[in-house]
Amino acid sequence: MHTPNHTTVGIIGGGPAGLLLARLLHRSGVECVVLESRDRDYVEQRQRAGILEQSTVDVLRSSGAGERLDREALVHDGIELRWDRRSHRIDFPSLTGGRRVWVYAQTEVCKDLIALQLEDGAPLLFEAHVRAVEGADTDRPVVHYTHEGQDRTLTCDYVVGCDGFHGVTRDAVPERVRRTYERVYPYSWFGVLADVPPSSDELVYAHSPRGFALLSMRSPTVSRLYLQVPNGTDPAGWTDERIWDELDARFAVDGGWTLKRGPITSKGVLPMRSFVSEPMSHGRVFLAGDAAHIVPPTGAKGLNLAAADVIVLARAFAELKEAGSTAGLEAYSATCLRRVWRAEHFSSFMTGTLHTDPAQGPFETRLQISQLDRIAASPHAAAELAENYAGLPIG
Ligand code: APR
Ligand code: PHB
Repeated sequence: MHTPNHTTVGIIGGGPAGLLLARLLHRSGVECVVLESRDRDYVEQRQRAGILEQSTVDVLRSSGAGERLDREALVHDGIELRWDRRSHRIDFPSLTGGRRVWVYAQTEVCKDLIALQLEDGAPLLFEAHVRAVEGADTDRPVVHYTHEGQDRTLTCDYVVGCDGFHGVTRDAVPERVRRTYERVYPYSWFGVLADVPPSSDELVYAHSPRGFALLSMRSPTVSRLYLQVPNGTDPAGWTDERIWDELDARFAVDGGWTLKRGPITSKGVLPMRSFVSEPMSHGRVFLAGDAAHIVPPTGAKGLNLAAADVIVLARAFAELKEAGSTAGLEAYSATCLRRVWRAEHFSSFMTGTLHTDPAQGPFETRLQISQLDRIAASPHAAAELAENYAGLPIG
């Protein structure tokens, strides 16, 4: 593949944010290059999120990446909450004026976007590791990267860091102007994939004295389940039987429901944090997705927040190309941060309400149960959860 030495928008990172941005820019006629440090298999196999909001589905469809999604995604109108052996369903359409969510794994979103880009898109370089971004304050920022054993540079009109929490682009925002906010949780999520039909038609979020559990899914025959575990838990220490026994205990509910078991095909432990780095731009360098913010996965916001950033940024670059206006670029950070903090709050609320902090006592547990009772009793409280979970329209 010919590797240009200059482009309009240099995109660092070929995860969901970088791939979707490249797709939208290409469709707007804005030249760009994507530099992704890992190989294609890594990006396509990395187990992450699984819930898409309406706005994310809309942008994937409008960018030409919605065909398989519309064939294979599971459309859900609600979730179930469980606590104290009780159960309550949150119905999204009736509480949000018709919004719903799609269950379609991030791995599949990436596969669809990569296939489209390689077929008809901007240059996408795998195993291209960016070492540094320089010149954010100039009109020609420079990306230094290594590809095929060669140190190379890409000069850009603009650079967008879509390189996730561990990327390098955040460092292009000088410390003197950077403000970071962080909370690291005293527990992690132990995620498993199992070859067994999901035991519920919709997702089940369970609060229990033993800790949080989530039943999700990837298809009618593959379940995706999570357990709250102590930080540093080694998946190797958990047999399939121990995993199923613990899930059984945490999903316990009156009424005879049973959790179907099957072979576990994937295990992984993910730490949890809330993080925001402000501002999300400096000079001609922009941050989108996990490069700028991280949410605990309880609210299913991570992928959707990345998509929302990219939608705003792609609109701004289209405005620059069509009208020569930088107004959208100048407003990008403030526009996105309003949504980011709303998602941070909701994700923190869902995490704090449903997880059992090792340090919490009976008083905190009763507060959690009272909050869950309130959601079950009040359509207003339920609507607040439904609106945030199903996603607020992108302004
Ligand atoms: N050079 C090039 N690529 C890099 C570099 C670098 N120095 N550092 C990181 N990357 C790549 C990673 O290999 C990864 O593929 O950037 C990509 C970042 O992708 P994500 O971490 O998935 O972040 P984002 O695209 O913002 O998507 C957010 O992903 O992690 C989940 O829960 C998160 O669902 C959310 C979504
Ligand atoms: C998932 O299916 O991976 C998933 C679903 C909902 C969440 C988090 C993860 O809140």
